[in-house]
Amino acid sequence: MTRLEDYDPASHYDRVTEAWLLLLGDELHYGVFATGDEPLPVATAALTRTMIDAARLQVTPAGERPLRLLDIGCGSGAPACDLVEEFGIEVVGITTSPVGVATARDRAARRGLPGATFEQRDGTDNGFEDASFDVAWAMESAHLMRDRHALLSEAARVVRPGGRVVLCDLLRWREIPFAEVRARREDFATLRTAFGDAHFESLAYYADSLAELGLEVEVADDLTQATLATFDRWRDNAARHRDAVVDLIGASGLAAFERSCDILEAFWRDGTFGYGVVAARRPA
Ligand SMILES: C[S@@+](CC[C@H](N)C(=O)[O-])C[C@H]1O[C@@H](n2cnc3c(N)ncnc32)[C@H](O)[C@@H]1O
Repeated sequence: MTRLEDYDPASHYDRVTEAWLLLLGDELHYGVFATGDEPLPVATAALTRTMIDAARLQVTPAGERPLRLLDIGCGSGAPACDLVEEFGIEVVGITTSPVGVATARDRAARRGLPGATFEQRDGTDNGFEDASFDVAWAMESAHLMRDRHALLSEAARVVRPGGRVVLCDLLRWREIPFAEVRARREDFATLRTAFGDAHFESLAYYADSLAELGLEVEVADDLTQATLATFDRWRDNAARHRDAVVDLIGASGLAAFERSCDILEAFWRDGTFGYGVVAARRPA
């Protein structure tokens, strides 16, 4: 029996992280597909590359101070470790999930990456000093935070002048009338069972909010079509890892995940939900 607190993102991610690694892969986010035929890890890496380009990350030149990046909602730590390895930067990953922190710390230790550190903190009240990072990076975590304005203002607060806030996430492309929500309550309940308590904003919301916080918006791109093939790959993983996933989240958890792939794909196709990336620079 699922209790209301189980939908809270911290408990939800504590419960699903191991199963998610099988269903979604090491990088716990959607993929960006160029042809639609790529394997999922290639496509999830392409989404990370989209964020890297939006953040304009560069390899730290020898003898220079490594750039500091705050990874808000760091999942299992895979993107953070990849960034440290590729760019020689320092990444502080935060998540509200203790299991996420432990998984990410293990990963960084296994890969010998002291520049990737992880802490249990909330992105809507991160507690870091003003202007203490070069980049604040929120990869597919904003929809799990009820107070999105607090997430954005906290992200803007901790980046130095000239630094950037970059974010990618699921989006809502139209208002959903109450009658439609009521008529589709079973679908929304299934999504909540599979993905926890989630709320989607529009691309304009993220871009306008960052502009209102005094940042210069440099990127606001729609990735809906590019991410569509993700659902096929997730269904493939569900079929491939059926027994292991049932052991981790039960048959009903797996069924909710599979049904959610169909529900979300239909929403992607009918223009209700989708995906996007936003980047903004704090003036120097
Ligand atoms: C879909 S996963 C994305 C993980 C990672 N960014 C990646 O792309 O692989 C969402 C992450 O956001 C975290 N999260 C949810 N609510 C949060 C909050 N209020 N503060 C910080 N992290 C949060 C979850 O625990 C999880 O690690």
